[in-house]
Amino acid sequence: MSSKPALYRDLLLEAKGLFDSIRDPVANAANLSALLWYGLPDLNWAGVYVLRGDELLLGPFQGKPACVRIPLGKGVCGTAAATRKTLIVPDVHAFAGHIACDSASNAEIVVPLIAAGQLRGVLDLDSPLLGRFDEEDRDGLEALANVFTLGSDPF
Ligand code: SME
Repeated sequence: MSSKPALYRDLLLEAKGLFDSIRDPVANAANLSALLWYGLPDLNWAGVYVLRGDELLLGPFQGKPACVRIPLGKGVCGTAAATRKTLIVPDVHAFAGHIACDSASNAEIVVPLIAAGQLRGVLDLDSPLLGRFDEEDRDGLEALANVFTLGSDPF
């Protein structure tokens, strides 16, 4: 099995290929979600929330239906968006204010989508495995988020 950095290098190349021909943010967020869903092991949700005013609105994703609106500063997604920093939560049940969308979720990582200094939304991944996400996931997902924001128009 390939290492995590190698896996993310492959995903980055695939993402660049996908976003090369189109800048539509919905199409690209949909393909990013699918790429992660099928490319990364042990996920039960992968997708994007889009910034709309002072809240995050559900965007393209893979997994079970999820909560539609998340205020900035609330939950893992709203906290990562408000602080503009990637948030790794090894155990969501120990995170005060976690918003439970799928009872299968035990760990979560949220990466802010920022382009030209502007917050556009967040990339959110959930896993049933406690401690599923680490610094290598953060590095890989931040690189993918960067390719997405550079390769897509604002939502
Ligand atoms: N758990 C997130 C909500 C979104 S779902 O995981 C898809 C949160 O606390 O912000």
